[in-house]
Order: sequence, then structure tokens, then C-alpha cells
Amino acid sequence: MLHRKRRVIGVGLPGRRLFQREVSRKNEEIAPHTGLAIEARIIESGSSCVETVMHCLTDFKNFAHAEVNLFVPLTILFGRNGSGKTNLIEGVELLAALAGGAPFNEITDIGRGGTFEVRGGLRSCPRFGTSGFRLQFNRSSITFDGMKQSIDYSIEVASYGRHEVRLSAERLKIGDRVFFDAENRGGEIIDVRYDNFSPGTNPSCQVSSARSVLSRYEEVIGNSRAQNAKRRKSPATVGGVRDYLRSSYIFDPQSKLMRAYERIESQPRLSRNGANLSAVLFALQEEGDPEKKATLQRITETIRRIPDEPFAEIGFADTRLGDVMAGFIPENGEGTNGGRLIDARLLSHGTLRMLAVVTALETVPERSRIVIEEFDNGLHPSRAKLLVQKLAEAAERRKLNVLVTTHNPAFMDALDESQMNNALLCHRDESRGASLVTRLGDLELAGTLTLRGGLGSFVTSGALERHLAPDFAEKRTRTTREWLESLS
Ligand SMILES: Nc1ncnc2c1ncn2[C@@H]1O[C@H](COP(=O)(O)OP(=O)(O)OP(=O)(O)O)[C@@H](O)[C@H]1O
Ligand SMILES: [Mg+2]
Repeated sequence: MLHRKRRVIGVGLPGRRLFQREVSRKNEEIAPHTGLAIEARIIESGSSCVETVMHCLTDFKNFAHAEVNLFVPLTILFGRNGSGKTNLIEGVELLAALAGGAPFNEITDIGRGGTFEVRGGLRSCPRFGTSGFRLQFNRSSITFDGMKQSIDYSIEVASYGRHEVRLSAERLKIGDRVFFDAENRGGEIIDVRYDNFSPGTNPSCQVSSARSVLSRYEEVIGNSRAQNAKRRKSPATVGGVRDYLRSSYIFDPQSKLMRAYERIESQPRLSRNGANLSAVLFALQEEGDPEKKATLQRITETIRRIPDEPFAEIGFADTRLGDVMAGFIPENGEGTNGGRLIDARLLSHGTLRMLAVVTALETVPERSRIVIEEFDNGLHPSRAKLLVQKLAEAAERRKLNVLVTTHNPAFMDALDESQMNNALLCHRDESRGASLVTRLGDLELAGTLTLRGGLGSFVTSGALERHLAPDFAEKRTRTTREWLESLS
């Protein structure tokens, strides 16, 4: 058997930032997307197609185990307060941050200035009563070695002592091949066994447990002399998985931040909080770019139907200092601001927020994943259908995967049957003391709900959560029996 020397990489540098900040929950831009060909695998089961699961959370916050497929054009996530909607989004976001190389000691509580911020910090992420959690991404496929092969990636994080949280295990399998398998034996160092695509025992090395192995795969495999074709292609394949995980774009538009002048830039990307909305819209009306103009036209067509006040187009006020503020030009030509423009400072909260949401849908890179929390916050119920149609149309045309949370029954009533099938309900399972995520399509309820006038009234009355309670059937029988007895 070949004896291979262990290499030690980056040890003694926990916390030192070796990579650029790539993932941040702050006012960052959308992570670049490589147009990577990761595909959802559709498993044929009998006559029906079962869409596959992509993200799994185990012992993460209030979930013992939750599975979600974010590979659909539009997913609506709903559920009572505290049922775990934001926790689920944080799980997806955290996986993106870890895959992108966020150092563990730079993941902090909200407002503490970390590279990535999660409520309560990393130490609050293991489900109460447990000491660690696992985030997983699987059952999609990627082309490697000329064939479509399945991806299975998981990362485990655990508490070590009272105050330390570290990487405890990590594994990437593509097809039948384990690209790497890492295990922490309790210290700051993690043992990684990796495939070098050569005959014989796979080598191993040690790296610091401060960041994910996925984010430093190239360092781990090093300059192995086994320069065969598979070995040469493996960094691009692993980079593809990493880029896909990082391409989640969580959007949290804050209308008050959009009411100021913004610096003009040539190719700005909409920031997470939407603060640079004016600059993004301004860049779309640049002379000589018909594609950008068409994008601005589509945004205008949707947004002009939101406010009560009719307006003709989106206009701008720019300064000699190179700043710009967007606004609406009213149909009658009379702005309330003494001029023709009703600028962002004067627009309503709901209108401005929707302008940011629609701009995000139209300007994020194609094939991105967009997550918008309480996305219809401030939207009048009469505009819900318009927004659902816009979300679905933009997701289909731009190949986006859009996940939104909502508490709005009008929005739920506007869903068609297939959108309802893909809707996810977060609810508490009393018997397990944890939350569950249930896809409505798995309950085969969507047809019934459509006939009964939509999902909204069921959500308002809490009927779905009652239906899912483990003792639902027993309780219903008891109530019927009591009613029959009361008649005799
Ligand atoms: N580590 C943990 N273990 C178990 N439960 C936790 C943990 N951390 C948070 N929780 C639970 O998660 C709940 C918050 O869930 P979350 O914020 O995701 O709710 P939500 O569905 O987004 O609600 P809302 O609609 O009000 O925004 C808390 O009330 C708490 O009970
Ligand atoms: Mg929430």
C-alpha cells in the first residue's frame, strides 16, 4: 500500500481571511453567477413526476428535519408566526455563506458586523437540546467526466465546549465518487481524505476547521502530479457546485433607504436592501442598449398598475455631482413637486417596495435564486394577482427560482393550481416538538382548495394546520361521535 504524507494547509490561521468577502448579509451585490449547468433531476415515479429535494436542514433552529426543492420557478412559503419561515431561509443563506468560504468566527448575530449575520449567531443555530446541525444539498446533477452525475454535499457544524462552534464534518460526492470527506476530531484541525483520481488509496491532508473545505477545494487537492483528465476537470466541477450554492440572492427591500440620491454607476447591481434602486433604474435607460431599455419598459409596465395615481413613465433627477434619484412622471404632466417628476422621496411605501421587487426580478442574473421575505408587505390586496402573474412570468422567462414568504390571504388566493402544489407550509409538529415543512402538492389538496375559492381562506381559518395535526382524524371522529350522542 502506498504511504502518502499528510499535508497541512492553513493551520493556525483560524479566522484570518484568506479569501475575499464573498457572501454577506449586508448591503452587498448579488453573487456572480457562472451560468452553471446544474439541473434538477426529475424522478419518474409511475405516471407522475416527483420533483426532487435540493436543500435539507437537520437539527437547524426549530427544524428536526426539513427538505425543500428550490428548483421550481415560484415557491410560496407560508405559515403562522414563529413556524420557521425565516429559519428556513437562514438555513439556505447560511449554506451559501459556508460554501462561499465565510470564516466561522466571522458569522455573527445580526448587527454585530460579521461577514455573514444570522439571528443569534452561529451558536444559536443547533436546535435546542442538540449540539450541532447539518445542511445538505443533493439530488440535482452536474456534468462531470462527460456524464450527468448526481451531487450530494453536506456540511455539519457543532459546538465544541461552551463558546466555540466549528466545522465538524463535510462531504462532497459526485456520482459514485467521494470528492472529499472531512472529519473534525475535536480540534482546530480537520482531516480531509480526497480523491486524487489515481489508482491506490486516496490521500489525506489536514486543514484548519475555520472555513468549509468546499471553499478551498483547490488548496486541498494541491498540485497533485496525477494530471489525468478527471483530475484536471474536478476543480471546475466543484467550483460549479460552489457557485450554484452561492447564487442565492436574498432580498430585503427597505423603502426608507430608497428615498435618497444615489451615485450614478455604469453597471450597478441592485443591493440586498434596494438602497441603490435609483442608480439601477438610471443605468437601464442608457442610450444605445435596446435590451436595457426593454427591461426598463417591462418594469414600468408592471409598476404603473400598482399605485392609484396614473403615471406615464419612470423619470430621473440627476445632479452635476453625478447623483440620481428616480421617480414617476405623472400622466397629466403635473408633478406634485412643482415639476414634472414625483421623486422617490414622495412615493408611497408600497409603490417603492414593489418597484424594488420588480426591478430585482428583472435585473438579477438569469438562473439565480431569489428569496424575498414578506415580499408583498405594503401591497394592496387588489394588486395581489398582478404580482403573482409578474413573479411567475419573470421566473419562467429568466429561468429564476423565486422563493417568497407571505402572510397575505389575497396573494394565496391568486395562486393557480400548480403554484399551490409547490407552496410550502411551515407548521409545528407538537408530537416532535419541532417544525415541519409540508409541500401542498404532497397532500394533494390543491385541486380541492382551487374549487373552494383558493388557499387564503384556509390559511386565515388555520384549517390547514388543524388538518396536519397528528391527532386530526381521531379528533374528528370524537367530535362526530359527540355530536351524534347529543342528538340521541
Ligand atoms: N435553535 C433553535 N432551536 C429551536 N427553535 C428555535 C431555535 N432558534 C429559534 N427557534 C424558534 O424559531 C422561532 C422563530 O422562527 P422564525 O423567525 O423562522 O418564524 P417565522 O415563521 O419567520 O415567523 P414570522 O411570520 O413571525 O416572521 C422562535 O420563536 C423560536 O421558537
Ligand atoms: Mg419571519
